Amino acid sequence: MERTFAIIKPDAVAANQTGAILAMVQKAGFRIAGMKMKRMSQLEAETFYGVHSARPFFGSLVKFMTEGPVVVMVLEAEDAITKWRDTMGATNPANAAEGTIRKTFATSIERNCAHGSDAPETAAVEIPFFFAGTELL
Ligand code: RTP
Ligand code: MG
Repeated sequence: MERTFAIIKPDAVAANQTGAILAMVQKAGFRIAGMKMKRMSQLEAETFYGVHSARPFFGSLVKFMTEGPVVVMVLEAEDAITKWRDTMGATNPANAAEGTIRKTFATSIERNCAHGSDAPETAAVEIPFFFAGTELL
């Protein structure tokens, strides 16, 4: 079993798509090991997406990720990291496969509804960034 870190981003929470996305999470076969709603601070968003700090979209991305509440989750499954990336679909919803979260709900390459860790090393940093060990069940 593997764990990945996932976010339902502010666009999807604001559009009341949380329930529909959670249904897709469970239909895909993930076990939810941790989940909470929170509003990311500027510093949290800047740190979380620090790998993109030199990119032209960084300021806009941080503004987006802090504009309203998000749902942060730890998802467990076999091959969870790849499986969740597949369930979300491509970063740009225009390129995302039919039936994926981003194809179904995302409105742009930035406002794309969901986040998922991209590698085991990333998940190992992202999970403890948002969850204490005692919050994972
Ligand atoms: P994420 O980290 O959120 O799971 O998304 P990802 O791996 O599919 O894409 P990544 O390249 O890591 O980009 C992180 C997030 O930045 C926003 N973005 N905007 N305007 C743009 O060209 C652009 N490119 C990326 C998206 O919100 C993307 O998910
Ligand atoms: Mg990424």
